[in-house]
Amino acid sequence: MAAEKKKLWGGRFSEDIDPLMEKFNESLSFDRRMAQEDVRGSMGYARALAKTGIITDAERDALVDGLDLVAKEWAADAFEVVSGDEDIHTANERRLGELIGPVAGKLHTGRSRNDQVATDTRMWLRAQLLVLRGYLRQLIAVAIERAESEVDVVMPGFTHLQSAQTVRWSHWLLSHAAAWQRDDMRIADLLPRVNTLPLGSGALAGNPFGVDRRALAVDLGFERVCPNSMDAVSDRDYVAETMFWASTTMIHLSRWSEDLIIYSSGQFGMVKLSDAYSTGSSLMPQKKNPDALELLRGKSGRLLGTLTGFMAVMKGTPTTYNKDFQEAWEGLFDTVDTMSDCLQIATGCLATLKIDPAAMERGLSADMLATDLAEYLVRKGVPFRETHHISGAAVKLAEDRGCALSDLTVGDLKPLCDAFEEDVVGVWSYEKSAESRDTEGGSSRRSVLEQCEKLRRYLRDTEGDVDEARYDGGAASAAAGVSTSGGEDAGALDAAFDEFCEDDPSADECKVFD
Ligand code: ARG
Repeated sequence: MAAEKKKLWGGRFSEDIDPLMEKFNESLSFDRRMAQEDVRGSMGYARALAKTGIITDAERDALVDGLDLVAKEWAADAFEVVSGDEDIHTANERRLGELIGPVAGKLHTGRSRNDQVATDTRMWLRAQLLVLRGYLRQLIAVAIERAESEVDVVMPGFTHLQSAQTVRWSHWLLSHAAAWQRDDMRIADLLPRVNTLPLGSGALAGNPFGVDRRALAVDLGFERVCPNSMDAVSDRDYVAETMFWASTTMIHLSRWSEDLIIYSSGQFGMVKLSDAYSTGSSLMPQKKNPDALELLRGKSGRLLGTLTGFMAVMKGTPTTYNKDFQEAWEGLFDTVDTMSDCLQIATGCLATLKIDPAAMERGLSADMLATDLAEYLVRKGVPFRETHHISGAAVKLAEDRGCALSDLTVGDLKPLCDAFEEDVVGVWSYEKSAESRDTEGGSSRRSVLEQCEKLRRYLRDTEGDVDEARYDGGAASAAAGVSTSGGEDAGALDAAFDEFCEDDPSADECKVFD
């Protein structure tokens, strides 16, 4: 029998497949990554089929036991791929047949690879997203820790990369942590949409054997079921949303890297990257290059491209499943792997870099207190618009004289505005400047420490969200007092399902804003 005749869909085909087409079409080389999820999804589906009566309990047990052997082969790296294994779904089913005989042919009853692949990838992705979320939260935790312990250090803050106002180093750290917190919330927000069950949708039209999709969802740890079978096999938003999350997170990491690349350059010298995250030059012995940060910046470009490419793949495909969708997986895997590396590398860089508070202080110049000078006059009752001009005139005067703004005496300043008094000398303190911005989110010590505290509270309040046990369908239904192995009453199952669905992980996060 020719190899192609053995294909699971081979019935209507009479001619040999072009060998290049075989290679062109296959996805096993990359979707084998979801071998375990494919097996677990099939086990759940076998249990669901048995409940309908379309297969017997003995057949279910044979399928589940056989699938367990398949899973073990993958785990032991002993699964042998044969020619004609087109993707993970056909490979697993082929092997199951070899292990348990013709009863294997009952597994795919009412199922299609269309609802199967969407189920497998969602199961795989939800677990990966939790891992990535854990890494992201470690990064945030390091930022909080540093921000707290280095809260005394002041540095120049920039707009347009020009010296602007005095801020705290911790304030800068937390500005990035604030973006990472949004990234964390974004995962929390998209996870329930990833964790929605397509299985039981068939190729597109639904399941003809009365499979209880809600029970199947609970069994497989899904929080809800896709509401429409055609959409279920059509929808790849969960891939696009993950890629968007990754791209946005990478843009944040890239901008953070760019800051640190600048701050670590010889001319700035404000931070020193640890050797563990730097490399040397093959030519110039003195060089220490911030390669880790540059790679973070560079990889952000690649992931943005992956998102854009995938959106282009989806655009214009007709409703329900199209093979174009297979193009999603390599990009998705790469996105997840890259995020895993990047988040860990960023955490390592941040945890190990050294700051030079003196260099940061040297980066401050009296002209950065020009706004404070204007604010001094505002406190004396002069309208801000006027004070802005007066302070500007003072900057120019100092420039003309070739001295620092802070070198101007009251005598120099008085002609510019009568409101200047001896106490103007109090303006010339960077520390005081940072302290003066004491509103929520500002650069004062109190405000910065409050930001740390809020972020810490956020991490604490959302700790449970990162626990993979939430996707353990068995645990979820056991907690709700229902069994998924069959025979339970439908009302209890519905209640368990509703309770599971109500547990919206994004609801809690909003608390940090109160
Ligand atoms: N390897 C395929 C994919 O990733 C699985 C689904 C195949 N479905 C089909 N109707 N050919 O999309």
